[in-house]
Amino acid sequence: MTNRDSRVVVITGGSKGIGRAVALKFGEEQARVILVHYDPDESAANETLDELTQLGVGGESHKVDVSSFEAVEGLFKEILSKFERIDVLVNNAGITRDTLLMRMGEDVWDSVIKVNLKSVFNCTHAVVKSMVKQRKGNIVNISSVVGAIGNFGQSNYAASKAGIIGFSKSVAKEVAGRGITVNAVAPGFVETDMTAVLSEKVKAAFLEQIPLGRVGKPKDIAEAVYWLCSKGASYITGQVIHVSGGMYM
Ligand SMILES: NC(=O)c1ccc[n+]([C@@H]2O[C@H](COP(=O)([O-])OP(=O)(O)OC[C@H]3O[C@@H](n4cnc5c(N)ncnc54)[C@H](O)[C@@H]3O)[C@@H](O)[C@H]2O)c1
Repeated sequence: MTNRDSRVVVITGGSKGIGRAVALKFGEEQARVILVHYDPDESAANETLDELTQLGVGGESHKVDVSSFEAVEGLFKEILSKFERIDVLVNNAGITRDTLLMRMGEDVWDSVIKVNLKSVFNCTHAVVKSMVKQRKGNIVNISSVVGAIGNFGQSNYAASKAGIIGFSKSVAKEVAGRGITVNAVAPGFVETDMTAVLSEKVKAAFLEQIPLGRVGKPKDIAEAVYWLCSKGASYITGQVIHVSGGMYM
């Protein structure tokens, strides 16, 4: 396979955590990996690119706020004109702004809905026409166990992650006839910067709810995402795969 034949994979939130693990998993097959992030600096993105280089893959990274419709449209136009197609889109960028509903200001609600949910619309909208033309493509949206069961202090986050599930199933129905699959992966508790900020007490409480008895690693999630974009999963669309050590069953 020449580099031109390898899959073009766009991963939002690909600079670190789960997104980085997904990038490296696709890197193993020599896919052309495009990371999107919105970190204050390029250090995490550069680390991921370095790890891709070690795998022999020339990836690239873009600092773009995926909650901006215009910015995302511009980014995908640029990617499509350079690479001529996008085979896989992984909508993984996400944030938390946890607080009780009674204390939640409108800005806190809006920011989480925009970054976690509107971004999935923005990126999927920007890529779907090209996938329809190709009659081929895989989209995986990263939801959360919290979208299925709710969580104290996370009404905004849970709403965004449940919204992703409804969105994924609807778009899956719209594009299935064109050979495109749309699925969601719902991680449980995964060790990343997002969960590093939680207190030891909260972490211990999560651990108690995990039947498999350990917290998740980013690679656990990446394996499921990768598989959903493989030939072996070509008959699967509109599904939510929970990768949570059994937190949700
Ligand atoms: N870590 C967990 O336990 C866990 C559990 C369930 C779901 N998730 C979901 O998995 C995804 C990845 O989480 P993580 O733990 O790896 O997080 P992380 O904080 O390690 O990484 C988040 C990534 O999203 C990017 N991002 C944030 N806002 C952005 C914006 N406006 N535009 C573009 N990129 C933006 C960041 O730059 C970074 O690359 C998120 O959607 C998160 O909600 C995580």
